[in-house]
Order: sequence, then C-alpha cells, then structure tokens
Amino acid sequence: MILVTGGAGFIGANFVLDWLRAHSESVLNLDKLTYAGNLHNLASLQGDARHVFVQGDIGDSALVARLLAQHQPRAVVNFAAESHVDRSIHGPEDFIQTNVVGSFRLLEAVRHYWQALPAIKKEAFRFLHVSTDEVYGTLSADAPAFTEDHVYEPNSPYSASKAASDHLVRAWHHTYGLPVLTTNCSNNYGPLHFPEKLIPLIIVNALAGKPLPIYGDGMQVRDWLYVGDHCSAIRRVLDAGRLGETYNIGGWNEKPNIDIVHTVCRLLDELRPRADGQGYAAQITYVKDRPGHDRRYAIDARKIERELGWTPAETFDTGIRKTVQWYLDNAEWAANVQSGAYREWLQTQYADTGAEIKA
Ligand code: NAD
Ligand code: DAU
Repeated sequence: MILVTGGAGFIGANFVLDWLRAHSESVLNLDKLTYAGNLHNLASLQGDARHVFVQGDIGDSALVARLLAQHQPRAVVNFAAESHVDRSIHGPEDFIQTNVVGSFRLLEAVRHYWQALPAIKKEAFRFLHVSTDEVYGTLSADAPAFTEDHVYEPNSPYSASKAASDHLVRAWHHTYGLPVLTTNCSNNYGPLHFPEKLIPLIIVNALAGKPLPIYGDGMQVRDWLYVGDHCSAIRRVLDAGRLGETYNIGGWNEKPNIDIVHTVCRLLDELRPRADGQGYAAQITYVKDRPGHDRRYAIDARKIERELGWTPAETFDTGIRKTVQWYLDNAEWAANVQSGAYREWLQTQYADTGAEIKA
C-alpha cells in the first residue's frame, strides 16, 4: 500500500479517489482533519477495504512510526499542509507547526522506517513531497516562467513554510540518502476545492448573491491547472521520477484573476442565470489587496514533459466548465462546508463502522 498524508483535503482527496479508481493498491490516509479536511470528500469510499483512514498529525512521531511499522507502505505521498496564504498572514503559527515541524517529524519517522527495510524494499521505496510554485516568489510581467533551477524567494508565511519543507526533503536525500521526489505545482482548481480559495469562493458567493471580492486591481496572474491533471502528474513522478529531483507541474495557463472571475460569471450566466436577468459580474467588488501579494506565478513544465512524458489532459475551458458544473451539482457539499456540518461527518458516518479512524 501507499501512505497518503492530507488525503481528506482538496488535492489529497482527489488523489486518493483517482488512485483507487485506477489501482488495486490500497491507500493508508493519514489526515489531522483540520478545518480543511473533510471526510465527505471520501464518502464514496465507505466500505472499500482498500482505503484505511486514520485521523492524526504528521507531527505525531509515535503514531507515524506505528502506522509505518503496521502497514509497511512502499511509498509516502505528502500532501498534508496548511495551504491558505491569507490564513498564513493572519496566523502563521499553524503553518510553521505543520509545514515545517510536521514535515521534519514525518521525514524522521520515514527515514527510520526506510533504513530498517530489507534491501529490495529499501531500493523501491519513495517519499514524494507535494509542494508549490509559490516557493519561487513573484515574477515580473515579462520574466520567463519558473524552472526547477529558479532561486527560492518565498514571500508569504505560507510559501516560506513550504520552502522550508522542500529544503528539509532535499537535505534528507542528500545527507541520509532517503529516496525523495519533490513536485512544485501551480494553482489547482476543480471539485472539492474549499470555498476560501478564489475559484470556489467566487462560485458559491455568486450563487448566494454575495459580493465577489477582487484583491487590489485583480491583475495578479496565476497559472491554473485542473486538479485531476495535478494528480496524474504526481502518479507519473511517483512511478518514474528520478530520485532527488524536483519536477515543476503546471498547465501553461496564465490568467489574471479578474479574467478568471469573469469566466466563472459567464459560465454561471449560461448554466444558472440570475433570476433578475442581470449577469453575475454585477456582483464583482474590488477590495483591499492581500499584504505582500505576489504579482505573477508561471510554471515552466518542460522537464516533466521531456523526462516523464506528462502533459495536462484538460484545457482551462474544459476544466473550468467541469468545475462550475460540479459546484452546481453538489450544492449540498458546499452548504455543509459553509455551515460547518461537514465536521460532524466523522462521528455520524464513521462511528461503529470498524474503520480505523482514530489514532
Ligand atoms: P487543503 O488545505 O485543502 O488540504 C490539506 C489537508 O491536510 C487537509 O485535509 C488537512 O486536514 C490536512 N492536514 C493539515 N495539517 C495536517 C497535519 N499536521 N497532519 C495531517 N494532516 C494535516 O490543501 P490542498 O489545496 O489540498 O493542498 C495539498 C498540498 O498541495 C499542500 O501541501 C499544498 O501546499 C500543495 N499545493 C496546493 C496547491 C493548490 O492550488 N491548492 C498548489 C500546489 C501545491
Ligand atoms: O500557486 C499555488 C498555490 O495556489 C498553492 O500553493 C496554495 O496552497 C493555494 O492556496 C494557491 O494560493 P493562492 O494564494 O494563489 O490562491 P487563492 O485562491 O487564495 O488566490 C488566488 C488569487 O486570487 C490570488 O492572487 C489572490 C486572489 N484572490 C483570492 C481570494 C480568496 C482574490 O482576488 N480574492 C479572493 O477573495
């Protein structure tokens, strides 16, 4: 089996669902279930013996050591993190605890487990660390996209904490020989995205008749990738990535935020028109900018294409249409997240199932 951390969050849950659709190999899913972890995301796996869920912290060394010894995974894919830039500005402590201290403790537990494996299993073992393009800092309008050799210049508490974890992963390879892989991906979007992030927030606010907040002038550029494509890239790197290497993952799809918001509004105008006949763009509201807001990210994804033959399957047009449709079809999911009801799911749905849900 493989151990996935943070597999109840946005990308982790998409990864676990995709994995179990494509593989017979089981997943041990370790997630702390912070506000961002949502077991509703994994509801379709209830009763599937290939999915073992454990509520716990990657920074709990004793728990991680016990799980590794008990389940003997052949790989670890580390998604677990605090992931929201705005939250990191308001309260950086959790970001340091999970992204830095938690990653360190996870690496140490994995190193001890890996060092004791028999030679064949030791050789085959992989630790894949999921990271972000934000570690590279910000780009001017005409600068070339980030390659894997770009200097690290993180600007927010979030990106600084992810940069620190990337450095730890690199050092655990260089010093101890731990067989690591690191991926640095651009902005994801798609189903199960928590509505604190731009695209899902715009969809749910638009449908609720609320303002659509645009930070600053709305001309900040992000490079958007459909979440399923991020998951396929991670699977490819896990299968065939060169040890100790970093792979940038992106969609070759740079867009200013305001264009993204207008695209979402146009799709909603088509699929769920407002009752008053006005367009959803009427709800756009410019608000105070994010402090230290990075102006532009762009990923040069030629290395993963050249070495591993990976390219995204979705264009932005196909991916954003699927995404908007998913939110229209899953209004209950979004309502549960907004009301907080999703946090009761653990007790109500997993109680008495025999599932390993508690450390
Ligand atoms: P998310 O916030 O939706 O999910 C994070 C998950 O990690 C949650 O389920 C949470 O409960 C869990 N978690 C948090 N702290 C934990 C801890 N100490 N121990 C165990 N579990 C813990 O995040 P996401 O958007 O799915 O991002 C997943 C990973 O991908 C992160 O490492 C993030 O930095 C990276 N990433 C995200 C994006 C993006 O656009 N969302 C892009 C590139 C990279
Ligand atoms: O680049 C990868 C990163 O993308 C990941 O590492 C992070 O985990 C993920 O959260 C995301 O970070 P961003 O800060 O780019 O995502 P967010 O959705 O918060 O914001 C996207 C852009 O939209 C950013 O320029 C800020 C802007 N924005 C965001 C919100 C929530 C707004 O203008 N209004 C908003 O209300």
